[in-house]
Amino acid sequence: MTDHERLILDRQLDPATRQADARRELRAALERDPREIPSKYFYDDAGSELFERITELPEYYLTRVETAMLRDLAPGLIERTGACELLELGSGYSIKTELLLDAICARHPHARYLAIDVAESALRAAAARLLPRYPELRMHGIVADFTRPLVGVPEGEARLFAFLGSTIGNFAQPAATELLRSIADAMQPQDRFLLGVDLFKDLITMEDAYNDAEGITAEFNRNILRVVNEHLQCWFEPENFDHVAFYDDLNCWIEMRLRTRHSVMLRIFAFDDERPYILDLTRGEEIRTEISCKYTRAQVEAMLRAAGLEPLEWHVAANDFFGLALARRLPPDAASTDR
Ligand code: SAH
Ligand code: TRP
Repeated sequence: MTDHERLILDRQLDPATRQADARRELRAALERDPREIPSKYFYDDAGSELFERITELPEYYLTRVETAMLRDLAPGLIERTGACELLELGSGYSIKTELLLDAICARHPHARYLAIDVAESALRAAAARLLPRYPELRMHGIVADFTRPLVGVPEGEARLFAFLGSTIGNFAQPAATELLRSIADAMQPQDRFLLGVDLFKDLITMEDAYNDAEGITAEFNRNILRVVNEHLQCWFEPENFDHVAFYDDLNCWIEMRLRTRHSVMLRIFAFDDERPYILDLTRGEEIRTEISCKYTRAQVEAMLRAAGLEPLEWHVAANDFFGLALARRLPPDAASTDR
């Protein structure tokens, strides 16, 4: 089979429905108090590339530490779980994924890799790199929002579900637990779930990871306004916003915001109203663009259990910076008493 024949790429929604959904969602978020832009809008083509540069920054320890952990753990993990198929949520460029695929394909060369991401360009770039590297691997990419019900995910056996990079931390409660529950619901009893989580640590390390000296994170943060401009046909000027990222001690998360340098009045014509929607931001007003929860082991395991998942293994980096939890779906009766 050619590389091309080994790739399936699905879009869950047609472009018009996606566009209408995005407008509705963005309007509701911008009207919220405090104002918000959901973080999935970071990842257009430019945003996906900027995120990849973030993962290479000296301050951004998460990717480096998780990669080193996976390098050590992957072969044993694949052997213990017996996984012969990988299903990954928020896969991006699938760089770390190679460590899991190396271990899976060594045992099952014809394995299948299912990757779900909103960023189509990232899925395509991943396929272009992975298919030549694994000559018999089949890849199925699904362009979809993993917070919506997942349709079109084919059945499989002994699958490893992976959700890496502490992307779960970008969701507050109860959304995070609901997302994990929807993953649990998609799992069969013999499937396993691998979750990467960033752990609570000293303030300076946590805050520096989102305030890099080169300003790439600031650029990534401002890029979200370009994505919003596309969707809403409006004219946010990214250079009129400052990047703000700080640790919120009460919520135990890093919060990222965009703060206006001047007052901003924006006309938005994309809402199908008779008159344009007016967005009025006073000078210094902030829009929240991201949270990134920093966990303890107990919090992660409680969240897994609340979602109907049973923790099986817990691994931490030597410096306690990052954790990987392995879980399986609780039997239905156990899960129901838990809910
Ligand atoms: N797994 C990679 C990338 C993490 S960045 C790593 O660990 O380095 C988060 C990824 O999740 C991005 O590729 C982004 O496009 C995707 N993503 C974010 N929100 C999403 C959503 N709601 N649905 C699907 N994918 C999403
Ligand atoms: N899941 C990543 C995290 O919480 C996402 C991320 C990293 C991110 N750096 C960012 C999101 C900067 C927005 C801005 O660390």
